[in-house]
Amino acid sequence: MSMFDDIERVLFTEEQIQARIRELAEELNAQYTDADLPLLVCILKGAVVFLSDLVRHLNFRHEMDFMVVSSYSSGTCSSGVVRILLDLETNIEGRHVLIVEDIIDTGHTLNYILHNLETRHPASVRIMTLLNKPSRREIDIPVDFSGFEIPDEFVLGFGLDYAEQYRNLPFIGVLKPEVYLRTEA
Ligand code: PRP
Repeated sequence: MSMFDDIERVLFTEEQIQARIRELAEELNAQYTDADLPLLVCILKGAVVFLSDLVRHLNFRHEMDFMVVSSYSSGTCSSGVVRILLDLETNIEGRHVLIVEDIIDTGHTLNYILHNLETRHPASVRIMTLLNKPSRREIDIPVDFSGFEIPDEFVLGFGLDYAEQYRNLPFIGVLKPEVYLRTEA
């Protein structure tokens, strides 16, 4: 059975996502210049697909770096516990930082990252997320650029996983309930 058979419905098509990414890139193109030389900080793993499509529409010089933090367990619930598993290679003191996330849910992950990066004295820190679930927020997060607001549903595809799979789907969708039952049984 194909992974596509596991999808109950599509929330955002590939075309919708790509169109929105172009718009987000235009917002960044209007705000940053070569002289800013911002550092795009991709929060792995989920944001890697978003970042790689986004940067190909940017027309200002920038650099990229990556962080891995743990937040969720392997299931669908946020634990609220955040640890840095892989830190930035770049010294961000005096740098303009743009955090690139795939989704903000409770806000615990970004709240931790934000405070952690601020202790390193960057010139600025802004946040871009492809998906935003404000109804789930437990900590207020200053989101500067947001692709789509979504309802409180477990979504996957375009970088987002269920049990580490489905990240390669070119759209964002919702799983059939029987998939959870199958894998959790
Ligand atoms: C997801 C997402 C955010 C975080 C958001 O990552 O990429 O980092 O959860 O949740 P929160 O707002 O409730 O903290 P996840 O831990 O699933 O890792 P992944 O990107 O490697 O899939």
